[in-house]
Amino acid sequence: MRLPGHDQRRRSDDDIVIGTLDLSARVDEALAVQAVAFGLGPDEVAVRRQIVVRHMTYPGARALGATAGGRLVGFVYGMPNDRTHWWSTVVEPYLRSGGHTDWLDDSFVITELHVHPHHQNRGVGRSLITTITDSAAQPRSILSAIDTDSPARGLYHSLGYEDLARRVLFPSAPKPYAVMGAPLPLRRR
Ligand SMILES: CC(C)(COP(=O)(O)OP(=O)(O)OC[C@H]1O[C@@H](n2cnc3c(N)ncnc32)[C@H](O)[C@@H]1OP(=O)(O)O)[C@@H](O)C(=O)NCCC(=O)NCCS
Repeated sequence: MRLPGHDQRRRSDDDIVIGTLDLSARVDEALAVQAVAFGLGPDEVAVRRQIVVRHMTYPGARALGATAGGRLVGFVYGMPNDRTHWWSTVVEPYLRSGGHTDWLDDSFVITELHVHPHHQNRGVGRSLITTITDSAAQPRSILSAIDTDSPARGLYHSLGYEDLARRVLFPSAPKPYAVMGAPLPLRRR
């Protein structure tokens, strides 16, 4: 016998649609998801808002959204990596010390990936990141994630991302990050 709650959950999962996201137009919805998933305060949201809108003007920047009944419940965005971008300049010395700076070339960088906690652990994040990287022209992907045993790190490892640098410090970020890289297409289960 199925419990009503179980049926309800399944129905809402089945209704999730992954598709192209006009992130500049829906930046506030996306940041509302990120704020609850990642834990951002209003000041951080305001800063991120400017950064996201600027990022979407970069060549090749693309975003995908996961929607449930039209409401955004998750998103991913990224772009071809560019060594002159701020993120690259921060991680470059850490990659250099491990002999991994070649990962900064011909690489699709995942800038953000967030799924609303009500919809986590049901394959939405996996679907977002594999779908966006499947259409990348680059042969590999890089990203940074807080350097801890998180669901995000578990997901990235299972997709084939390996650590290229650990304990990477971004100015103004309180926690160290790991930089990870994977060949494309990402590993399937
Ligand atoms: C990371 C995140 C986007 C994943 O989204 P999701 O929809 O929950 O992920 P999926 O359901 O597609 O994949 C779950 C995978 O995560 C991993 N995972 C989930 N919970 C985990 C845990 N407690 N420990 C380790 N790995 C875990 C597993 O690899 C799991 O794969 P499985 O399906 O084989 O079990 C989501 O957890 C999130 O938004 N977290 C907060 C924000 C964040 O950290 N974003 C990433 C910034 S770098």
